[in-house]
Amino acid sequence: MTSNPYPLGLRLHGRRVVVVGGGAVATRRVPALLDAGADVLLVAPELTPALRARVDAGRLHWVSRRFVPEDLDGAWLVQVAVDDPIAAASVSAVAAERRIFCVRADDRTAATAWTPAVTRHGPVTVAVLGGGDPRRAMTVRDAIRDLLAVRLAPDGAAPTPGGPDASTGTTAGPQAGRVALVGAGPGDPELITVKGWRLLTEADVVVADRLVPGLLLDELRPDVELVDASKIPYGPSRAQEEINQILVDRALAGAFVVRLKGGDPYVFGRGGEELLACAAAGVPVTVVPGVTSSIAAPAAAGIPVTHRGVAHEFTVVSGHLAPDAPASLVRWDALAGLHGTLVILMGLKNLAAITATLIAHGRPPQTPAAVVQEATTGTQRVLRSTLGEVAADLRAADLRPPAVVVVGDVVNALDG
Ligand SMILES: C[S@@+](CC[C@H](N)C(=O)[O-])C[C@H]1O[C@@H](n2cnc3c(N)ncnc32)[C@H](O)[C@@H]1O
Repeated sequence: MTSNPYPLGLRLHGRRVVVVGGGAVATRRVPALLDAGADVLLVAPELTPALRARVDAGRLHWVSRRFVPEDLDGAWLVQVAVDDPIAAASVSAVAAERRIFCVRADDRTAATAWTPAVTRHGPVTVAVLGGGDPRRAMTVRDAIRDLLAVRLAPDGAAPTPGGPDASTGTTAGPQAGRVALVGAGPGDPELITVKGWRLLTEADVVVADRLVPGLLLDELRPDVELVDASKIPYGPSRAQEEINQILVDRALAGAFVVRLKGGDPYVFGRGGEELLACAAAGVPVTVVPGVTSSIAAPAAAGIPVTHRGVAHEFTVVSGHLAPDAPASLVRWDALAGLHGTLVILMGLKNLAAITATLIAHGRPPQTPAAVVQEATTGTQRVLRSTLGEVAADLRAADLRPPAVVVVGDVVNALDG
């Protein structure tokens, strides 16, 4: 048959799709069906562990046996994911009899429907059929995905960011502005999430922190307004109010504003305050989590924050206030009693007081400790020491912020 396929976007939400087979092909096909909201019935005597996990989680129905024609009762679509050509042909014969489209993994020429190679970009889905050659379809799909990752709207018209995001506010129409709080990751520009990067390329206004990787900003469109939040000339609390106001004002004027923050927006990032300010003004907000330095900085220095048989917990704590500061909310005495990993952010200035307090409350001074400065960047530095000596070693080595301090046996866990 040489005629061209007719492309369709199937809206499968709540509609029965039968998948016959429980092996590798079904494992790859089922997630997209579930993502489309399909009511999936899996017919197979055996399942892969990944499929079994979805069954156990109540995401789909499974009948543990071979296919019978009644399995297609009420089905809108059937996917045949078995190797055995005779079994596959018998399923597609029943499907054809009932006028149900049938995808066949074993023999695409015998199928009545083909699955395309797909890339999704927010609300946009691109599906590519390769004229019978799945590799060609994937190559073209990859090229389109890369293009879309660079920019969805070349003329600068920002499409409405969409997807199942956490949103506050209810007033947004198609022309309304909005804000995305995006975690930029710890320093390496490649450590932003795919979604964060996409929203950044769609922004009209970007409000960026000091710790945001500069290379991310280099690639913004020339017409994007870039607000450097670190240059706002007031004290920290007044500056935060100014930032909140900038987010709200630009969004209410109709702009799509990306608030780009180092690491994760909610880890000592004041993202919550910005979300509340936007919500109070009726501005919808999307939050895109980021790779936080509290985990990434140790990792970049070869330190896992947990390790089997070594640490079953890790605690992330801010050291920006000294342990005896009246405003401190941290129970350093209690933290000293933990065996696991302690990750201290913003702690260099107070490190001598912090380590002395931990030791005074029982954490052994010989506990391994490390400091990781400018992690994941070309200027990363790592100092390895002990709890008792790290503050002095830090001064001698002249390490500076931004840096993370790690305390615990995990510091040496991967040493050979
Ligand atoms: C205001 S907090 C923001 C943390 C950020 N939201 C996160 O999730 O990583 C700033 C502190 O994060 C830590 N930090 C951020 N980036 C870092 C990096 N590349 N290397 C080491 N520490 C970093 C430092 O302790 C710094 O003082």
